[in-house]
This record gives sequence, C-alpha cells and structure tokens, in this order.
Amino acid sequence: MSVVISGTGIYTPEQSINNKELVESYNQYADSYNERYKEDISKGTIEALTHSNEDFIKKVSGIESRYVLDKEGILDPERMRPLLAERSNEQPSVQAEIAVSACLQALENANKKAEDVDAVICACANLQRAYPAVAIEIQDLLGIEGYAYDMNVACSSSTFGIQNAVSDIRAGLAKSVLVVSPEICSGHLNFKDRDGHFIFGDVCTALLLEQDVGSDKKGYKIIDTRLKTVFSNNIRNNFGFLNQAENSDLNSPDKLFIQEGKRVFKQVIPIVASLIEDHLQKNNIPIDTVSRLWLHQANLSMNQLIAKKLLGRDPGAEEMPIVLDEYANTSSAGSIIAFHKYQDDLNVNDIGVICSFGAGYSVGSIIVQKI
Ligand code: COA
Repeated sequence: MSVVISGTGIYTPEQSINNKELVESYNQYADSYNERYKEDISKGTIEALTHSNEDFIKKVSGIESRYVLDKEGILDPERMRPLLAERSNEQPSVQAEIAVSACLQALENANKKAEDVDAVICACANLQRAYPAVAIEIQDLLGIEGYAYDMNVACSSSTFGIQNAVSDIRAGLAKSVLVVSPEICSGHLNFKDRDGHFIFGDVCTALLLEQDVGSDKKGYKIIDTRLKTVFSNNIRNNFGFLNQAENSDLNSPDKLFIQEGKRVFKQVIPIVASLIEDHLQKNNIPIDTVSRLWLHQANLSMNQLIAKKLLGRDPGAEEMPIVLDEYANTSSAGSIIAFHKYQDDLNVNDIGVICSFGAGYSVGSIIVQKI
C-alpha cells in the first residue's frame, strides 16, 4: 500500500538570537566567572574561561542565528538558560502548544481536518515530562480520535516517526497519522559551554502521512524507508528518572547535551553516505536522478561532504537546501524544515531523500517521489 506525505507544517518561535548576541553574552559570563574565581585561577586550581568568537562559529558550523522560545533568560549572563513559566496541569504544556500550531498548518496544507486523523506520533529528542505522553495531550487538544504515543530517537526521531507512521498505516492501524517534532533544544543546551553554546535552536515541525487511495492526493509518495543505529557515547545526555535514586547532581553538565564534535563529524559522515547510497541502489535509483537531498541540519561542512561522497561533485544550493544558517541545529526537525520549505518547486515524479542523523548514532533515510 502506498503512503504519502500530504501536508507539512512548522512553528517557528518569534524570538531569535544571532551569533553576535550569543557571543557577547557568553563572553560576559566568562569574564565574571574569571573574576569570581581569580584566586583559584592564579593558583592554577581552576582554568580560566576563554572568549567565544562569532567568526569561529560561522566557519566551523555554518550557523548564523537560531530561533528560541526565550531569548532573555538565555542571554542573561547570570542565568544562561531559557526562562519558561511553569504551567499548571490544567494548562496546555509548551511542547503540546507549539505542536498543535505546526499540526494545524500541516492539516491545512493537506486540506484535511483533525477528524480525518487517526493517530499522533510525537517524535522528538527531548520530552518535557515522563507521562502522560505529550502526544496524547496533542491528540486531545486537536480533538483527534484514535491513539497517540511519544517516541525518542534523538536527532532521528522524525524519520523514525515517519517509519512508524508508514508501518501503522500499512498494518491497517490508521489511515492517517500526524508525526510532530516539538524540538525545544534550548532546554538541553549548555549555554555555559564555549565548545557547543551556539549549536541548537527551537522549532516544531509536523507531517501528515496518509494512505494513498487514489488521485486526490498531492504531496510526496514514500518510495522506501531505511533506518540504522550504531551505539556511541560521543553524543550523550545523562538526564533521566534515575538521577535522584543515584544521588546524582542534577546541575552537573552531563545532565545537558555533551558531544565529542570532531569524532561525531568523522564517524557519522561515512555511515550516512553509505546508507543513502545502498538505499538508493536497492531501489534502483541512480544518484544522478535524485533531485533533492533534505539532510539533517547540524553542520554545513558535514552535509557538503556527505553530498560530495554521493554525487562525486559539490552539490548545488538547490540540490541540498540549508536552513542551518537561520535555524541552527534543531535536532530531528532539521531535515523536515528543509523539506517543508523546499518542496514546492520539484516536478511530478521527481525523487528526493530526507535523511536525519545524530545521537545514538541513529540514521533515517526516506526516499520520496513528488505526486
Ligand atoms: N569560539 C572560539 N573558539 C572555540 C570555540 C568558540 N565558541 N569553541 C571551541 N573553540 C576552539 C577549541 O578550543 C579548539 O581550539 P584548539 O584547536 O586550540 O584546541 C578549536 O576551536 C577547535 O574546536 P573543536 O571543538 O575541535 O571544533 P570543530 O571544528 O570540531 O567544530 C563543531 C565544533 C561542534 C561545530 C563540530 O565538531 C560539529 O558540528 N560536529 C558534528 C556535530 C554533529 O553532527 N552532531 C550531531 C547532531 S547533534
């Protein structure tokens, strides 16, 4: 049975932070840290912090700016984390709220209503609570019958979510499924860490997947999906429900995002390039017939190297759209933002690949064809 992506939607926060603002705030934090610990620093028991640099950030990552839910808290050198008002159990949670906004846009683009949907998969790298599932709250807010569940495969959550939606539709569990990725990455980013304070931004993407029952559908048909995981500690976050039982320090940096960026860069590129290559080969699709690569948005050079390995030449800007400069890394939403923004200009029958990669390691490749 054919499954189509019939609509996409996005919620983009109103506030954004450019590299200059982020670096100024970090440097103020570093200066006051060095002042506070100047005696220990002079004795050599504590290492002084060095300044961050805008040109470095753009050069090594391609990131120029990021959208965030709360700019003020992040840029406050005394706080260095977003400030979100705690909500009562009777209020919609912030993840559900931004998810509803993205889902409504996906439904509108698919010309569908909430009552046409059978299931909601909330697929993202960080969920704001253990239970009830955020997906069930989204289902309730939208007024959807059927079922909903949360899933987390870090930066590959959305592509693994697409795989689940396709499986659910093919198994007859649902005729149409919303896959929504509310990625509030500013909540797990350590803004006091010079090596990574620039990496992430906030966003929410949504996709409507439907059983393809005839000619009324528009959008993209799923040709094939492929998933791969390889265990690695090079991207890790130890925050979890056993922290208190373990008497673990909830404020220590390992309860936020930590990565060995250089290792990730080197190890993930060949895994992704060979997965996409094999996936296309298995489907008898020559790479030179692929019109677009909607890749995960973590690092510009990484994407350029992956595309070069696949194509045997540098990719054109239209072949491999980049949203990283504006949005930064938005975890599993990155490749879906690129797909959402750069899908309309392809012609019927054109083929593209949506591919995510990240912590786990986890890689998801989705071959799609415009209908
Ligand atoms: N400003 C100025 N200098 C900085 C800096 C900053 N903010 N952060 C680090 N540096 C310095 C380092 O101290 C280091 O200095 P040294 O050479 O004197 O030791 C140098 O710049 C290089 O740092 P490094 O962290 O090795 O940079 P990098 O080239 O590896 O780039 C990343 C860092 C994170 C951008 C890059 O590794 C990356 O994107 N990796 C892949 C990430 C990924 O895909 N993750 C998966 C998804 S979550």
